Order: sequence, then C-alpha cells, then structure tokens
Amino acid sequence: MRSPFPPWTNNIRNLLGAGAIGGLVYAVLIVTYGFSPNATDVGYQPEQPVPFSHRIHAGKLGMDCRYCHQDVERNAFAAIPATQTCMACHERILPESTKLAPVRESWASGGPVPWVKVHDLPDYAYFDHAAHVTKGVGCASCHGRIDQMEVVWQSKPLSMGWCLECHRNPEPNLRPKALITKMDYAQEGPEVGARLRAEYNVNPREDCSTCHR
Ligand code: HEC
Ligand code: HEC
Ligand code: HEC
Ligand code: HEC
Ligand code: HEC
Repeated sequence: MRSPFPPWTNNIRNLLGAGAIGGLVYAVLIVTYGFSPNATDVGYQPEQPVPFSHRIHAGKLGMDCRYCHQDVERNAFAAIPATQTCMACHERILPESTKLAPVRESWASGGPVPWVKVHDLPDYAYFDHAAHVTKGVGCASCHGRIDQMEVVWQSKPLSMGWCLECHRNPEPNLRPKALITKMDYAQEGPEVGARLRAEYNVNPREDCSTCHR
C-alpha cells in the first residue's frame, strides 16, 4: 500500500485542474520531491496465478516484448496478453503441464487469467507508454532487466521525483527507436543522447498538467 496523503493534498486535483497552484504549494513540492528519495514499492513482487517466467520467454526463448505487449507503441496502456497468445504455443508445447492449468481453464471458460498488477500508479497520475516508446525511451529504463526476472518485480520507484528526473534530463535514457525492447542496450557515448534528442525532437514537459489532468 502507498502512504496516506498529507491533508493538504485533498483538493489538489481540483487545484491542478484550475491551474491555481500557489507558490507555497510549489515550494513544498520542490522540497518534498527535490530532496527526498520518496521510494515507493521498489521490490514489490506479488505472487501470480501462473508461474509465468519472463526469464524463460523473453530471455532464453528470446521473444520480443511486443509479441505479448502488443499495444505498447500505440496506446497509453501496454496491455497484458490474452490467453489466446499463450495457447498459440501451449496447445502443443507442454499441454499437460500443471503450471499451465489456470491458462487452460481460462481458454476453456473464456474468462481471463487473474494476473496481479505489479506497476500501478495512483489514478490521479497520468502515464502514456506510446509517448515514451516512440521517442526512444526503452522498457529497461523504467522496468529494469525484465528478461532476467523469473517473477516480475518493480525495480524503479515510479515516484513523481523519479519521473521528473528524467523529464529534466532525458538524454542519458534515449536510444534508437529500433532498439526499444533491447534489454542490454547501452549508449556508446554521451553524444548519442544529444544526437537522438535533436533527431526525435524530445522535449519532455514538467508542468503539472502533463501528468495530472
Ligand atoms: C510470452 C508473453 C510475454 C512476453 C514475450 C513478455 N511478457 Fe511481459 N508479461 C506477460 C504476462 C503474461 C504478464 C503478467 C504476469 C506477470 O506479471 O508476470 C507480463 C507482465 C509484465 C510486466 C508487469 C506488468 C504489471 O502488472 O505491472 C512488465 C513490466 C512486462 N511484462 C514487461 C515486459 C518486457 C519489457 C518484455 C520484453 C523484454 C516482456 N514483458 C515480454 C507476458 C509477456
Ligand atoms: C512462442 C511460444 C510460446 C508462447 C507464446 C508462450 N510460451 Fe510459455 N513456454 C514456451 C516454451 C518453449 C516453454 C518451455 C521452455 C523451457 O522449459 O525452457 C514454455 C514454458 C512455460 C511455462 C513452464 C511450464 C512448465 O511446466 O515448466 C509456463 C508456466 C508458461 N510457459 C506460461 C506461458 C504463458 C502464461 C504464456 C502467455 C502469456 C506463454 N507461456 C506463452 C513457449 C511459449
Ligand atoms: C518511461 C517509463 C516506462 C517505459 C519506457 C515503459 N514503461 Fe511500462 N509501465 C510504466 C509505468 C509507470 C507503468 C504503470 C502504469 C499505470 O499504473 O498507469 C507501466 C506498466 C506496464 C505494464 C502493465 C500494463 C499497463 O500498461 O499498465 C506493462 C505490461 C508494461 N508496462 C510493459 C512495458 C513494455 C513492454 C515496455 C517497452 C516496450 C515499457 N513498459 C516501457 C513505465 C514505463
Ligand atoms: C527515462 C525517462 C523518462 C521517465 C522515467 C519518465 N518519462 Fe515521461 N517522458 C519522457 C520522454 C522522453 C517523453 C517524450 C517527450 C516528447 O515527446 O518530447 C515523455 C513524455 C511523457 C508524457 C507525454 C506528454 C504529452 O505531451 O503528451 C507523459 C504524460 C509522461 N511523460 C508522464 C510520465 C510519468 C507520469 C512518469 C513517471 C511515472 C514518466 N513520464 C517518467 C521521458 C521519461
Ligand atoms: C512527469 C510527471 C509528473 C509531473 C510533471 C508532475 N507530477 Fe505530481 N505526481 C506524479 C506521479 C507519478 C505521482 C504519484 C507518485 C507516487 O505514487 O508516489 C505524483 C504525485 C503527486 C502528488 C501526491 C503527493 C503525495 O503525497 O503522494 C501531488 C500533490 C502532485 N503530484 C502534485 C504535482 C504538482 C503541483 C505538479 C506541478 C508542479 C506535479 N505534480 C507535476 C507525476 C508528475
């Protein structure tokens, strides 16, 4: 669970909507987010209904992230794959596996596999996958080495301070768009980020309404 909000944030969404941010509120935020690590849920790793392994599928078998998370370049949401995506292989591969029993049940009943959400921003914060991925920010910058995870866990704070750190200085996190899902990508030098920033016209915004709409 996330920490309870201080009382003064109760009406913050209304304030934000009206664009009426007082200097004091702003100053408090700068102090809160500028100087505190504000770690939220790093390491959170819920138990899943099926022991699905990214280490096997994305790592060992080398499947591209977009094979399963198909909407990530087009939509705000990355989307969890439908059971059909799994059964395309698992009708024939390991058809008797007990680990896959809930997947077969879902296939038979038409109901979803009850996957548990790992990364979850509060409702008042707006995020958009396509806006990032199409500007050269790779999955690994925000999710870590998913290809090495047996069970997915949250590796970054996803706090406002963390978002803003990159919005203020995106260059170290940019890569060629073609390598967006490459897990071990590393820039060859600092000039790469500056070049890509110009080429892709990357100018992340820091005003409140970007993420609080
Ligand atoms: C074979 C299909 C498949 C592939 C390939 C795949 N994923 Fe997933 N992914 C899933 C499923 C199913 C879940 C939900 C269960 C879970 O969290 O493990 C998931 C969950 C996730 C989550 C956590 C979602 C949440 O609830 O917050 C992230 C992040 C993620 N995947 C990123 C990636 C990345 C990055 C890659 C490529 C390196 C990738 N996935 C490749 C099927 C896949
Ligand atoms: C492209 C084919 C392919 C797709 C699509 C695929 N898998 Fe797999 N899966 C495999 C293969 C191959 C293995 C065995 C790998 C190994 O053991 O090295 C496997 C193993 C597994 C296992 C381990 C089973 C056991 O008994 O050890 C589970 C669980 C699993 N997959 C779940 C899923 C789920 C859930 C999805 C859909 C989100 C999915 N897989 C999509 C090919 C696939
Ligand atoms: C700039 C950071 C960032 C990048 C880049 C990014 N993600 Fe995410 N991802 C997030 C955040 C934040 C959430 C939680 C969103 C929410 O709760 O509204 C999330 C959630 C997810 C989820 C859960 C479903 C959803 O959309 O809420 C999946 C799956 C996922 N990401 C996969 C990926 C894959 C695959 C890539 C690369 C192609 C990727 N992400 C790139 C930050 C990022
Ligand atoms: C690793 C770098 C990075 C991180 C971390 C990051 N962003 Fe971004 N963000 C970007 C870049 C780059 C863009 C694209 C800017 C552009 O289009 O010029 C962007 C764009 C956006 C946009 C689209 C704004 C629009 O004009 O539509 C939103 C919304 C957003 N980010 C929200 C978030 C939130 C919320 C978080 C934290 C949960 C976050 N970002 C974390 C780099 C990042
Ligand atoms: C780049 C995206 C982004 C921008 C820009 C942004 N925020 Fe946020 N903000 C977030 C995210 C993400 C959270 C949720 C963080 C968490 O879950 O800990 C958040 C949380 C908050 C909260 C809740 C604080 C709490 O106690 O948890 C307030 C209040 C807030 N933001 C106000 C603002 C104001 C005022 C501005 C403009 C000065 C602003 N935000 C700009 C992403 C952003």
